[in-house]
Amino acid sequence: MEESKKVLYSAVQPTNNLTIGNYIGAIQNWVELQSGYNCFFSIADMHAITVRQIPAELRQRTLNLVALYIACGIDPEKCVLYIQSNVSAHAELCWALNTFTYVGEMQRMTQFKDKSARHADNINMGLMDYPVLMAADILLYQTDVVPVGLDQRQHLEIARDIAIRFNNAYTPTFKVPEGLYLKVGAKICDLLEPAKKMSKSAENPNGSVFLSDDRDTVIRKFKRAVTDSGSEILYDPENKPGVSNLLSIYSVFSGKSMDEAQRDFAGKGYGDFKLAVGEVVADRLKPIQERQAKILADKEYLNNILKSGAERASYSANKTLSKVYKKIGFYQL
Ligand code: TRP
Repeated sequence: MEESKKVLYSAVQPTNNLTIGNYIGAIQNWVELQSGYNCFFSIADMHAITVRQIPAELRQRTLNLVALYIACGIDPEKCVLYIQSNVSAHAELCWALNTFTYVGEMQRMTQFKDKSARHADNINMGLMDYPVLMAADILLYQTDVVPVGLDQRQHLEIARDIAIRFNNAYTPTFKVPEGLYLKVGAKICDLLEPAKKMSKSAENPNGSVFLSDDRDTVIRKFKRAVTDSGSEILYDPENKPGVSNLLSIYSVFSGKSMDEAQRDFAGKGYGDFKLAVGEVVADRLKPIQERQAKILADKEYLNNILKSGAERASYSANKTLSKVYKKIGFYQL
């Protein structure tokens, strides 16, 4: 850990498969951020169980994600990559922070209301406590910045509120984290409903391209992507949302500017265009998938990384936890 660098914290839930939208919007950013910050990246399996999971699947998805991050360029030497449940301080701090969080404010959280509506048969305490666990994640590491999407903004605000509340009740204990709202180069939309953001949990999986999709699947999905009336291949999100989305994807995955991308398809038909976009994406995914498979096959390597990650995370986390325990009056041995 370099003292001079700021601490950055982020996590993903090992729930659904990630899409190319997550790759562009999140993973790629993490890869770029890892040299400028002391980064902690975790797989939030404790958050995942707030909705029912199939145990074997949860375990496998967790490992898949770790391998995927490494395959995408997260360097476990440069940052701390670990599984949340491997570091017991998360649950412990969450408990303490619960006593600084009001039931009413948790009931008002947008995501809690949404998820309660979607999982009406399982509105468990964990679902309501989700933001407090997330606050614990962040605050344990004296985090300076948290790169978050807009959907997580409210959670970050609560983490800040809880930190300030605790600091005011005692003496400054937690760093109050800032959100890092990255400008995403391109917003990647659903291939079948280009007005919507591509989602890992869309109803129709043919609208989303997953990082785990093989070449044929990728190409088939792009072939079926909706285009717009007219036959010109132009970037015009207002009038040609389907074509514009495909052009954005092409531009991001080929590294070409939007102008170049449009020139590549001047005078061409939709069929050729869609095939070309599919190929560029499949070409980019192939080496990532190969690296991921290789990492997954080497259990010892993976376990060593996770062990070291959990140890380094625990070291930092326990320092904060012990300060908290002291302030709240726990007798420590
Ligand atoms: N709730 C986040 C999501 O679903 C995942 C997450 C858990 C997280 N803990 C975090 C993100 C801490 C940032 C910081 O995307």
